[in-house]
Amino acid sequence: MRVAILSSSKEIANIAADMYTDLLAKKPDAVLGLATGSSPLQVYQELVRRFEAGQVSFAKARAFLLDEYVGLPSDHPEGYRNFIEQKIAGLVDFASGAVVGPEGQAEDAQEAADRYQKAIEDEGWVDLQILGIGTDGHIAFNEPGGSLFSTAHTQVLTKQTRQDNARFFDDDISQVPTMAITQGLGTISKAKKLVLVAEGKQKAQAVAQMVEGAVSAMWPATVLQFHNDVTILLDEDAASELVLKDHYRAVWDAQ
Ligand code: GLP
Repeated sequence: MRVAILSSSKEIANIAADMYTDLLAKKPDAVLGLATGSSPLQVYQELVRRFEAGQVSFAKARAFLLDEYVGLPSDHPEGYRNFIEQKIAGLVDFASGAVVGPEGQAEDAQEAADRYQKAIEDEGWVDLQILGIGTDGHIAFNEPGGSLFSTAHTQVLTKQTRQDNARFFDDDISQVPTMAITQGLGTISKAKKLVLVAEGKQKAQAVAQMVEGAVSAMWPATVLQFHNDVTILLDEDAASELVLKDHYRAVWDAQ
């Protein structure tokens, strides 16, 4: 893992956007992984800015979302496909149909999850995946207690996750869906490159577990310790519980 402890959201966004821009310059038809949540928003803003400045094009790229709520109406603004459309997909030049997510309205959600896994596999897996992290250590919607090798699957959301996400649903937990379809930890691990963004004190414990804790289903993000190309971009608050902070700074500065 490369761990960067950075002084501003802008710096975090620039580094992550550089990774997408560099990849698309080398491989215009790359398979991109897109995440929802607030963590990647500044990265998307920076990518849209670069697109508008003519510095990057998504015209030949394809993209997969990490996850989707089950049961929200297809036009719900908090549906992840709609969120991604508003924050990046609809603001750049992706070809129509190039950005896909799990079918949260499918009659059989597990079948939809299996189809989603196959679709990602058929594309040769994701080239670059951006990730956030939940306060309980989840990535995508892989909650504690699941398999570290899971394929795309349906997931019952924990109360903690629903509470955290209630801010997007008028602060009303009863409006937050109880179930999602998510790429599994095994699916995410197949991505060639991963970049995880975390900011704020509320992420410090999950970040410390992810980077320095024992690999365990209790902290799903610890599976990233097995991946050989992961970049973790943190602000000081999110990094505050890391023991080896000085070492990570020295390694990052040496690169
Ligand atoms: C949701 C998403 C995750 C995201 C997490 C953290 O649960 N499914 O992909 O990483 O929230 O969100 P935020 O970045 O808003 O803290």
